[in-house]
Amino acid sequence: MAASMQLNVKPLKPAFYLKSASKHSPKLPARVRCSAAAASTRRYSISLLPGDGIGPEVISVAKNVLKLAGSLEGIEFRFQEMPMGGSALDLVGVPLPDETLSAAKQSDAVLLGAIGGYKWDNNLKHLKPETGLLQLREGLKVFANLRPATVLPQLVDSSTLKKEVAEGVDLMVVRELTGGIYFGKPRGFGTNENGDEIGFNTEVYAAYEVDRIARIAFETARKRSGKLCSVDKANVLEASMFWRKRVIEIASEYPDVELSHMYVDNAAMQLVRNPKQFDTIVTNNIFGDILSDEASMITGSIGMLPSASLGESGPGLFEPIHGSAPDIAGQDKANPLATILSAAMLLKYGLGEENAAKRIENAVLHTLNKGFRTGDIYSAGNKLVGCKEIGEEVLKSVETPVPAAV
Ligand code: IPM
Ligand code: MG
Repeated sequence: MAASMQLNVKPLKPAFYLKSASKHSPKLPARVRCSAAAASTRRYSISLLPGDGIGPEVISVAKNVLKLAGSLEGIEFRFQEMPMGGSALDLVGVPLPDETLSAAKQSDAVLLGAIGGYKWDNNLKHLKPETGLLQLREGLKVFANLRPATVLPQLVDSSTLKKEVAEGVDLMVVRELTGGIYFGKPRGFGTNENGDEIGFNTEVYAAYEVDRIARIAFETARKRSGKLCSVDKANVLEASMFWRKRVIEIASEYPDVELSHMYVDNAAMQLVRNPKQFDTIVTNNIFGDILSDEASMITGSIGMLPSASLGESGPGLFEPIHGSAPDIAGQDKANPLATILSAAMLLKYGLGEENAAKRIENAVLHTLNKGFRTGDIYSAGNKLVGCKEIGEEVLKSVETPVPAAV
């Protein structure tokens, strides 16, 4: 998208920005970027939800990066920090306070750290931090969760897979986020006809839910390599048979995208056998949860992977896919790069600010090129640093951009 087209454009339809999120979008010369940025200041309000564990540490670093990259591109942010997850439980007794949800809804985009921790693990379901996250996704109606997994050449040795298997992997998991077994009814605990105690959930999808996520996935695949693999369990589950039927129906709108289908057990195996066969994967809520964690390991560390959750309209939710890592919280050991890259996704997919997003992505690559590593991605010969220091290095690279030699 040309820089001039971005001026004063407020995000209404994330699908529109997906179109601009091409792997092949033209690179603008720095001079053009500066003059476009100088033309007017764009202002956005961002809700920051640091959450629990390492959440506050990684959010504080990502906020600084976002602020600087924005200011260099003529963007001004108003940040509002709100409680969420276990910290909100401790503060006000619920994992998603009404004030947090309404602030999030009123903002232009939401950046979340991580939620959860041992302390709240045995809470009743409605008092679990995870319940707050599901309420937030539901409240913001962000049904499309984009989880890219890219093996960076700098980190290929961090992958547990053989170099030749991991090298060059670049895939996108499009996960349905507000339906399926996470939200399906009936659900609960009870007693069966034999008097045994049971717990039960329901995997259910309505046509409109499959159709809209399928369209996002086809659009995404179209902008990447034009290959889409829909993952289901249609050999067993009715909900999956229905999923597959709807995906095939929507495929007729995208004749240029090559569609394939795979059962989830096979997909889990293929991801570690030959991940390069995949480009875009579309799948339901629970399979997407599992496969995106698996895909993250191919890249070396879950500490590197960002995500974007988008709806038809309204603010998107951007979060690293890692958890709150309570074992290392408060020790300055966390890897903030997934959150920093989530901030880049916020700029690109949430606000349509591709130049600022690119600045951040390049700065992360440059920081890795300089050899800075947190513990999770450390390998011999590199410089082991903490969360704050790697954040400082990213800031330096945002300030003085260099062409990102990947
Ligand atoms: C994720 C997480 C969440 C999920 C949890 C924390 C509720 O695992 O974002 O992948 O299951 O969606
Ligand atoms: Mg998960």
